[in-house]
Amino acid sequence: MIVGSFYLPTRISMGKDCMPDILSGKSRVFIVTDRFMHETGRVSYITDKINEGASYEVFSEVTPDPDITQISKGVEKMLAFEPDLLVALGGGSPIDAAKAIMYFAAREKDFSALSFVVIPTTSGTGSEVSRFAVITDSEKGIKYPLVDDKLLPDTAVLDPSLVASLPPAVTADTGIDVLTHAVEAFVSNSRTDFSDAMAEKSIKLVYRYLLKAYKEPENLDYRQRMHNASCLAGAAFSNAGLGINHSLAHALGGKFHIPHGRANGILLPYVMSFNAGCTDKLTPTANRYAKISRLLDLETTSVRQSALNLIRTARRFIEALGMPSNIKDAGISQAEFEAALPEMAETALKDSCTSTNPEYVRLEDLIGIYQAAWSGKWW
Ligand SMILES: NC(=O)c1ccc[n+]([C@@H]2O[C@H](COP(=O)([O-])OP(=O)(O)OC[C@H]3O[C@@H](n4cnc5c(N)ncnc54)[C@H](O)[C@@H]3O)[C@@H](O)[C@H]2O)c1
Ligand SMILES: [Zn+2]
Repeated sequence: MIVGSFYLPTRISMGKDCMPDILSGKSRVFIVTDRFMHETGRVSYITDKINEGASYEVFSEVTPDPDITQISKGVEKMLAFEPDLLVALGGGSPIDAAKAIMYFAAREKDFSALSFVVIPTTSGTGSEVSRFAVITDSEKGIKYPLVDDKLLPDTAVLDPSLVASLPPAVTADTGIDVLTHAVEAFVSNSRTDFSDAMAEKSIKLVYRYLLKAYKEPENLDYRQRMHNASCLAGAAFSNAGLGINHSLAHALGGKFHIPHGRANGILLPYVMSFNAGCTDKLTPTANRYAKISRLLDLETTSVRQSALNLIRTARRFIEALGMPSNIKDAGISQAEFEAALPEMAETALKDSCTSTNPEYVRLEDLIGIYQAAWSGKWW
Protein backbone atom coordinates (compact mmCIF):
# COMPACT_ATOMS: atom_id res chain seq x y z
CA MET A 1 0.00 0.00 0.00
CA ILE A 2 1.43 3.36 -1.00
CA VAL A 3 1.62 6.03 1.72
CA GLY A 4 1.24 9.55 0.34
CA SER A 5 -0.63 12.83 0.30
CA PHE A 6 -2.48 14.94 -2.22
CA TYR A 7 -2.38 18.74 -2.15
CA LEU A 8 -4.22 20.99 -4.61
CA PRO A 9 -4.74 24.49 -3.15
CA THR A 10 -5.39 26.22 -6.50
CA ARG A 11 -8.88 27.47 -7.38
CA ILE A 12 -9.60 26.45 -10.98
CA SER A 13 -11.96 28.45 -13.25
CA MET A 14 -12.86 27.02 -16.64
CA GLY A 15 -14.80 28.11 -19.71
CA LYS A 16 -14.79 30.94 -22.24
CA ASP A 17 -14.32 34.33 -20.53
CA CYS A 18 -14.19 32.56 -17.18
CA MET A 19 -11.70 34.85 -15.45
CA PRO A 20 -13.00 35.41 -11.90
CA ASP A 21 -12.63 38.79 -10.24
CA ILE A 22 -8.95 38.50 -9.42
CA LEU A 23 -8.36 42.23 -9.65
CA SER A 24 -10.67 43.67 -7.04
CA GLY A 25 -8.74 45.29 -4.20
CA LYS A 26 -5.48 44.91 -6.13
CA SER A 27 -3.54 48.07 -6.92
CA ARG A 28 -0.23 46.82 -8.33
CA VAL A 29 -0.36 44.08 -10.96
CA PHE A 30 2.84 42.51 -12.28
CA ILE A 31 2.29 40.50 -15.48
CA VAL A 32 4.85 37.95 -16.67
CA THR A 33 4.45 36.86 -20.27
CA ASP A 34 6.41 36.42 -23.51
CA ARG A 35 7.00 38.82 -26.39
CA PHE A 36 4.44 37.11 -28.64
CA MET A 37 1.67 37.56 -26.09
CA HIS A 38 2.63 41.17 -25.50
CA GLU A 39 3.14 42.22 -29.11
CA THR A 40 -0.09 40.60 -30.31
CA GLY A 41 -2.08 42.46 -27.65
CA ARG A 42 -3.16 39.35 -25.76
CA VAL A 43 -2.10 40.96 -22.48
CA SER A 44 -5.29 43.05 -22.79
CA TYR A 45 -7.12 39.95 -21.50
CA ILE A 46 -5.92 41.20 -18.09
CA THR A 47 -5.09 44.88 -18.56
CA ASP A 48 -8.58 45.74 -19.93
CA LYS A 49 -10.02 44.64 -16.61
CA ILE A 50 -7.60 46.49 -14.33
CA ASN A 51 -9.46 49.03 -12.19
CA GLU A 52 -8.90 52.74 -12.55
CA GLY A 53 -6.26 53.94 -10.12
CA ALA A 54 -4.42 50.61 -10.17
CA SER A 55 -1.10 50.32 -11.97
CA TYR A 56 0.53 47.47 -13.81
CA GLU A 57 3.84 46.47 -15.29
CA VAL A 58 4.45 43.88 -17.99
CA PHE A 59 7.62 41.79 -18.01
CA SER A 60 7.67 40.14 -21.44
CA GLU A 61 11.29 39.12 -21.82
CA VAL A 62 10.58 35.41 -21.32
CA THR A 63 11.61 33.10 -24.19
CA PRO A 64 10.84 29.37 -24.59
CA ASP A 65 12.68 27.44 -21.86
CA PRO A 66 13.32 30.44 -19.59
CA ASP A 67 16.90 31.07 -18.65
CA ILE A 68 18.30 32.08 -15.26
CA THR A 69 19.40 35.47 -16.62
CA GLN A 70 15.78 36.26 -17.60
CA ILE A 71 14.67 35.17 -14.15
CA SER A 72 17.21 37.49 -12.46
CA LYS A 73 15.96 40.43 -14.55
CA GLY A 74 12.37 39.60 -13.63
CA VAL A 75 13.28 39.38 -9.93
CA GLU A 76 14.81 42.88 -10.07
CA LYS A 77 11.68 44.27 -11.77
CA MET A 78 9.36 42.59 -9.28
CA LEU A 79 11.35 43.82 -6.27
CA ALA A 80 11.25 47.38 -7.63
CA PHE A 81 7.53 47.28 -8.55
CA GLU A 82 6.31 45.59 -5.32
CA PRO A 83 3.11 44.04 -6.73
CA ASP A 84 0.16 42.75 -4.72
CA LEU A 85 -0.94 40.57 -7.66
CA LEU A 86 1.28 38.49 -9.93
CA VAL A 87 -0.27 37.19 -13.17
CA ALA A 88 1.45 34.71 -15.48
CA LEU A 89 0.02 34.66 -19.01
CA GLY A 90 1.36 32.25 -21.65
CA GLY A 91 2.64 28.74 -22.08
CA GLY A 92 4.78 26.86 -19.61
CA SER A 93 7.73 29.15 -20.23
CA PRO A 94 6.20 32.40 -18.91
CA ILE A 95 4.37 30.48 -16.17
CA ASP A 96 7.56 28.83 -14.92
CA ALA A 97 9.44 32.12 -15.23
CA ALA A 98 6.79 33.84 -13.09
CA LYS A 99 7.02 31.07 -10.50
CA ALA A 100 10.80 31.32 -10.29
CA ILE A 101 10.70 35.14 -10.19
CA MET A 102 8.18 35.01 -7.33
CA TYR A 103 10.21 32.36 -5.50
CA PHE A 104 13.51 34.26 -5.64
CA ALA A 105 11.94 37.71 -5.02
CA ALA A 106 10.32 36.34 -1.85
CA ARG A 107 13.79 35.59 -0.51
CA GLU A 108 14.56 39.32 -0.63
CA LYS A 109 11.26 40.93 0.45
CA ASP A 110 8.06 39.93 2.21
CA PHE A 111 5.46 39.03 -0.43
CA SER A 112 3.20 37.04 1.88
CA ALA A 113 0.15 39.15 0.84
CA LEU A 114 0.78 38.53 -2.89
CA SER A 115 -1.86 36.69 -4.94
CA PHE A 116 -0.63 34.55 -7.83
CA VAL A 117 -2.89 33.91 -10.83
CA VAL A 118 -1.90 31.73 -13.79
CA ILE A 119 -3.57 31.92 -17.20
CA PRO A 120 -2.19 29.21 -19.51
CA THR A 121 -2.32 29.72 -23.27
CA THR A 122 -1.03 26.25 -24.17
CA SER A 123 -2.59 22.97 -23.02
CA GLY A 124 0.55 21.19 -22.00
CA THR A 125 2.55 21.77 -18.88
CA GLY A 126 -0.14 21.81 -16.19
CA SER A 127 2.12 24.36 -14.54
CA GLU A 128 -0.99 26.30 -13.45
CA VAL A 129 -1.51 23.72 -10.68
CA SER A 130 1.94 22.21 -10.20
CA ARG A 131 4.65 22.81 -7.64
CA PHE A 132 7.24 22.53 -10.42
CA ALA A 133 9.05 25.18 -12.45
CA VAL A 134 11.66 24.25 -15.05
CA ILE A 135 14.53 26.69 -15.45
CA THR A 136 17.35 26.49 -18.00
CA ASP A 137 21.02 27.24 -17.48
CA SER A 138 21.91 28.01 -21.12
CA GLU A 139 25.64 28.19 -20.50
CA LYS A 140 25.73 24.67 -19.12
CA GLY A 141 22.90 23.45 -21.40
CA ILE A 142 20.98 22.06 -18.41
CA LYS A 143 17.32 22.32 -17.34
CA TYR A 144 16.59 22.33 -13.60
CA PRO A 145 13.20 21.47 -12.15
CA LEU A 146 12.54 23.62 -9.08
CA VAL A 147 10.05 21.80 -6.84
CA ASP A 148 8.34 23.56 -3.93
CA ASP A 149 4.81 24.06 -2.56
CA LYS A 150 5.56 27.79 -2.54
CA LEU A 151 5.30 27.69 -6.35
CA LEU A 152 1.64 26.65 -6.30
CA PRO A 153 -0.64 29.32 -7.81
CA ASP A 154 -3.73 30.61 -5.96
CA THR A 155 -5.91 30.66 -9.08
CA ALA A 156 -5.77 28.99 -12.51
CA VAL A 157 -7.88 30.33 -15.37
CA LEU A 158 -8.62 27.73 -18.07
CA ASP A 159 -10.13 29.81 -20.88
CA PRO A 160 -10.17 27.86 -24.18
CA SER A 161 -10.43 31.03 -26.29
CA LEU A 162 -6.80 31.79 -25.39
CA VAL A 163 -5.60 28.47 -26.87
CA ALA A 164 -7.48 28.61 -30.20
CA SER A 165 -4.58 30.49 -31.88
CA LEU A 166 -2.04 27.80 -31.03
CA PRO A 167 -0.28 26.56 -34.23
CA PRO A 168 -0.74 22.82 -35.01
CA ALA A 169 2.88 21.90 -34.21
CA VAL A 170 2.63 23.50 -30.74
CA THR A 171 -0.77 21.85 -30.18
CA ALA A 172 0.91 18.52 -30.99
CA ASP A 173 4.01 19.05 -28.83
CA THR A 174 2.11 20.34 -25.82
CA GLY A 175 -0.62 17.69 -26.14
CA ILE A 176 1.94 14.90 -26.04
CA ASP A 177 3.47 16.59 -22.99
CA VAL A 178 0.07 16.17 -21.29
CA LEU A 179 -0.04 12.49 -22.20
CA THR A 180 3.49 11.97 -20.87
CA HIS A 181 2.64 13.73 -17.59
CA ALA A 182 -0.46 11.60 -17.09
CA VAL A 183 1.24 8.30 -18.01
CA GLU A 184 4.29 9.00 -15.85
CA ALA A 185 2.13 10.06 -12.88
CA PHE A 186 -0.01 6.93 -13.31
CA VAL A 187 2.98 4.58 -13.06
CA SER A 188 5.04 6.69 -10.61
CA ASN A 189 6.27 5.01 -7.44
CA SER A 190 4.58 7.84 -5.46
CA ARG A 191 1.14 7.57 -7.04
CA THR A 192 -2.01 7.46 -4.92
CA ASP A 193 -5.65 6.75 -5.72
CA PHE A 194 -6.11 10.52 -5.91
CA SER A 195 -3.36 11.15 -8.45
CA ASP A 196 -4.52 8.06 -10.37
CA ALA A 197 -8.03 9.49 -10.70
CA MET A 198 -6.68 12.68 -12.24
CA ALA A 199 -4.21 10.85 -14.49
CA GLU A 200 -6.86 8.42 -15.74
CA LYS A 201 -9.29 11.17 -16.71
CA SER A 202 -6.49 13.13 -18.35
CA ILE A 203 -5.39 10.13 -20.46
CA LYS A 204 -8.98 9.53 -21.61
CA LEU A 205 -9.41 13.20 -22.58
CA VAL A 206 -6.14 13.30 -24.52
CA TYR A 207 -6.99 10.06 -26.32
CA ARG A 208 -10.36 11.42 -27.33
CA TYR A 209 -9.64 15.11 -28.03
CA LEU A 210 -5.99 15.77 -28.94
CA LEU A 211 -6.26 14.80 -32.61
CA LYS A 212 -9.58 16.62 -32.83
CA ALA A 213 -8.06 19.83 -31.39
CA TYR A 214 -5.12 19.43 -33.78
CA LYS A 215 -7.42 19.15 -36.80
CA GLU A 216 -10.02 21.72 -35.69
CA PRO A 217 -8.01 24.27 -33.71
CA GLU A 218 -10.85 26.74 -33.32
CA ASN A 219 -13.32 24.30 -31.82
CA LEU A 220 -13.51 25.61 -28.26
CA ASP A 221 -15.02 22.42 -26.87
CA TYR A 222 -11.98 20.40 -28.01
CA ARG A 223 -9.66 23.14 -26.73
CA GLN A 224 -11.40 23.18 -23.34
CA ARG A 225 -11.11 19.40 -23.06
CA MET A 226 -7.37 19.54 -23.74
CA HIS A 227 -7.01 22.46 -21.29
CA ASN A 228 -8.77 20.35 -18.65
CA ALA A 229 -6.65 17.30 -19.52
CA SER A 230 -3.49 19.36 -19.11
CA CYS A 231 -4.60 20.72 -15.74
CA LEU A 232 -5.67 17.28 -14.47
CA ALA A 233 -2.31 15.80 -15.49
CA GLY A 234 -0.57 18.74 -13.78
CA ALA A 235 -2.43 18.02 -10.53
CA ALA A 236 -1.56 14.32 -10.85
CA PHE A 237 2.18 14.76 -11.36
CA SER A 238 2.49 17.68 -8.97
CA ASN A 239 1.59 15.10 -6.30
CA ALA A 240 2.86 11.79 -7.72
CA GLY A 241 5.95 13.05 -9.53
CA LEU A 242 7.13 12.08 -13.01
CA GLY A 243 9.79 9.67 -14.22
CA ILE A 244 12.75 9.13 -16.53
CA ASN A 245 10.82 10.25 -19.61
CA HIS A 246 11.03 13.76 -18.21
CA SER A 247 14.59 13.33 -16.93
CA LEU A 248 15.73 12.30 -20.41
CA ALA A 249 13.64 15.03 -22.10
CA HIS A 250 15.04 17.73 -19.80
CA ALA A 251 18.62 16.75 -20.64
CA LEU A 252 17.86 16.40 -24.37
CA GLY A 253 15.96 19.69 -24.53
CA GLY A 254 18.60 21.50 -22.46
CA LYS A 255 21.30 20.39 -24.89
CA PHE A 256 19.55 20.61 -28.28
CA HIS A 257 16.62 23.00 -27.69
CA ILE A 258 14.04 20.51 -28.88
CA PRO A 259 10.62 21.73 -27.64
CA HIS A 260 9.83 20.04 -24.34
CA GLY A 261 6.71 18.14 -25.47
CA ARG A 262 8.38 16.95 -28.68
CA ALA A 263 11.33 15.59 -26.72
CA ASN A 264 8.89 13.75 -24.43
CA GLY A 265 6.95 12.34 -27.39
CA ILE A 266 10.05 10.98 -29.10
CA LEU A 267 11.14 9.22 -25.91
CA LEU A 268 7.76 7.98 -24.68
CA PRO A 269 7.52 4.63 -26.56
CA TYR A 270 11.13 3.75 -25.64
CA VAL A 271 10.71 4.67 -22.00
CA MET A 272 7.46 2.68 -21.73
CA SER A 273 9.12 -0.30 -23.37
CA PHE A 274 12.04 -0.11 -20.90
CA ASN A 275 9.82 0.36 -17.85
CA ALA A 276 7.53 -2.52 -18.89
CA GLY A 277 10.51 -4.83 -19.48
CA CYS A 278 9.15 -5.59 -22.96
CA THR A 279 12.44 -6.92 -24.27
CA ASP A 280 13.21 -9.03 -21.23
CA LYS A 281 11.16 -10.03 -18.20
CA LEU A 282 7.91 -8.14 -17.72
CA THR A 283 7.93 -5.77 -14.71
CA PRO A 284 5.05 -4.75 -12.40
CA THR A 285 4.92 -1.50 -14.41
CA ALA A 286 3.73 -3.52 -17.43
CA ASN A 287 0.53 -4.18 -15.44
CA ARG A 288 0.05 -0.47 -14.96
CA TYR A 289 0.41 0.15 -18.72
CA ALA A 290 -2.05 -2.70 -19.29
CA LYS A 291 -4.47 -0.84 -16.99
CA ILE A 292 -4.16 2.24 -19.19
CA SER A 293 -4.86 -0.01 -22.20
CA ARG A 294 -8.03 -1.15 -20.45
CA LEU A 295 -9.12 2.48 -19.97
CA LEU A 296 -8.72 3.04 -23.71
CA ASP A 297 -10.28 -0.29 -24.78
CA LEU A 298 -6.94 -1.53 -26.11
CA GLU A 299 -6.59 -4.37 -23.62
CA THR A 300 -6.10 -8.02 -24.55
CA THR A 301 -5.87 -11.07 -22.28
CA SER A 302 -2.06 -10.84 -22.26
CA VAL A 303 -0.34 -8.16 -20.14
CA ARG A 304 2.57 -8.03 -22.61
CA GLN A 305 0.24 -7.50 -25.56
CA SER A 306 -1.80 -4.89 -23.68
CA ALA A 307 1.34 -2.92 -22.78
CA LEU A 308 2.57 -3.24 -26.37
CA ASN A 309 -0.78 -2.01 -27.68
CA LEU A 310 -0.41 1.12 -25.56
CA ILE A 311 3.14 1.70 -26.82
CA ARG A 312 2.05 1.22 -30.45
CA THR A 313 -0.88 3.56 -29.93
CA ALA A 314 1.45 6.24 -28.58
CA ARG A 315 3.65 5.82 -31.68
CA ARG A 316 0.65 6.09 -34.00
CA PHE A 317 -0.51 9.22 -32.22
CA ILE A 318 2.89 10.82 -32.64
CA GLU A 319 2.83 10.00 -36.39
CA ALA A 320 -0.71 11.33 -36.81
CA LEU A 321 0.39 14.58 -35.15
CA GLY A 322 3.23 14.99 -37.66
CA MET A 323 5.88 14.79 -34.94
CA PRO A 324 9.35 13.26 -35.44
CA SER A 325 9.44 9.75 -34.05
CA ASN A 326 13.17 9.69 -33.30
CA ILE A 327 15.93 12.09 -32.24
CA LYS A 328 17.62 11.88 -35.65
CA ASP A 329 14.48 13.17 -37.39
CA ALA A 330 14.34 16.05 -34.90
CA GLY A 331 17.45 17.31 -36.71
CA ILE A 332 20.28 16.02 -34.49
CA SER A 333 23.27 14.52 -36.34
CA GLN A 334 24.90 11.31 -35.15
CA ALA A 335 28.17 13.11 -34.37
CA GLU A 336 26.59 15.80 -32.18
CA PHE A 337 24.32 13.25 -30.52
CA GLU A 338 27.19 10.91 -29.65
CA ALA A 339 29.33 13.75 -28.34
CA ALA A 340 26.53 14.84 -25.99
CA LEU A 341 25.32 11.36 -24.98
CA PRO A 342 27.44 10.59 -21.86
CA GLU A 343 26.76 13.98 -20.28
CA MET A 344 23.04 13.91 -21.12
CA ALA A 345 22.68 10.47 -19.55
CA GLU A 346 24.53 11.62 -16.39
CA THR A 347 22.32 14.71 -16.17
CA ALA A 348 19.17 12.64 -16.65
CA LEU A 349 20.22 10.20 -13.93
CA LYS A 350 20.60 13.09 -11.47
CA ASP A 351 17.33 14.81 -12.52
CA SER A 352 14.84 14.92 -9.65
CA CYS A 353 12.19 13.18 -11.82
CA THR A 354 14.29 9.98 -11.85
CA SER A 355 13.52 9.30 -8.19
CA THR A 356 9.81 8.67 -8.88
CA ASN A 357 10.37 6.38 -11.90
CA PRO A 358 8.65 3.05 -11.17
CA GLU A 359 11.65 0.94 -12.21
CA TYR A 360 15.24 1.18 -11.02
CA VAL A 361 17.52 2.65 -13.70
CA ARG A 362 21.27 2.62 -14.22
CA LEU A 363 23.33 4.98 -16.33
CA GLU A 364 23.68 2.35 -19.05
CA ASP A 365 19.90 1.93 -19.21
CA LEU A 366 19.49 5.64 -19.92
CA ILE A 367 22.23 5.51 -22.56
CA GLY A 368 20.45 2.54 -24.20
CA ILE A 369 17.10 4.38 -24.27
CA TYR A 370 18.72 7.47 -25.82
CA GLN A 371 20.50 5.36 -28.45
CA ALA A 372 17.33 3.53 -29.45
CA ALA A 373 15.39 6.82 -29.56
CA TRP A 374 18.07 8.46 -31.70
CA SER A 375 17.97 5.90 -34.48
CA GLY A 376 14.32 4.93 -34.08
CA LYS A 377 15.44 1.32 -34.11
CA TRP A 378 13.25 -0.86 -31.97
CA TRP A 379 14.98 -3.22 -29.54
N1 LIG B 1 6.27 23.57 -14.48
C1 LIG B 1 5.95 22.42 -14.96
O1 LIG B 1 5.34 21.62 -14.25
C2 LIG B 1 6.34 22.06 -16.36
C3 LIG B 1 5.88 20.87 -16.93
C4 LIG B 1 6.23 20.61 -18.25
C5 LIG B 1 7.02 21.51 -18.96
N2 LIG B 1 7.48 22.63 -18.37
C6 LIG B 1 8.32 23.62 -19.09
O2 LIG B 1 7.44 24.51 -19.82
C7 LIG B 1 8.13 24.97 -21.00
C8 LIG B 1 7.31 24.66 -22.23
O3 LIG B 1 6.05 25.27 -22.15
P1 LIG B 1 5.01 25.13 -23.36
O4 LIG B 1 5.17 23.82 -23.98
O5 LIG B 1 3.69 25.52 -22.83
O6 LIG B 1 5.53 26.18 -24.44
P2 LIG B 1 6.09 27.68 -24.36
O7 LIG B 1 5.52 28.45 -23.24
O8 LIG B 1 7.58 27.61 -24.45
O9 LIG B 1 5.49 28.27 -25.72
C9 LIG B 1 5.86 27.71 -26.98
C10 LIG B 1 5.56 28.72 -28.10
O10 LIG B 1 4.15 28.85 -28.25
C11 LIG B 1 3.78 30.22 -28.29
N3 LIG B 1 2.42 30.32 -27.76
C12 LIG B 1 2.01 30.12 -26.49
N4 LIG B 1 0.67 30.25 -26.43
C13 LIG B 1 0.24 30.56 -27.66
C14 LIG B 1 -1.06 30.83 -28.24
N5 LIG B 1 -2.17 30.75 -27.52
N6 LIG B 1 -1.14 31.10 -29.56
C15 LIG B 1 -0.01 31.13 -30.34
N7 LIG B 1 1.23 30.89 -29.86
C16 LIG B 1 1.36 30.62 -28.54
C17 LIG B 1 4.83 30.92 -27.43
O11 LIG B 1 4.91 32.29 -27.72
C18 LIG B 1 6.09 30.14 -27.81
O12 LIG B 1 6.67 30.64 -28.98
C19 LIG B 1 9.47 24.25 -21.03
O13 LIG B 1 10.47 25.09 -20.51
C20 LIG B 1 9.24 23.05 -20.14
O14 LIG B 1 10.42 22.53 -19.60
C21 LIG B 1 7.13 22.92 -17.10
ZN1 LIG C 1 6.41 17.89 -19.33
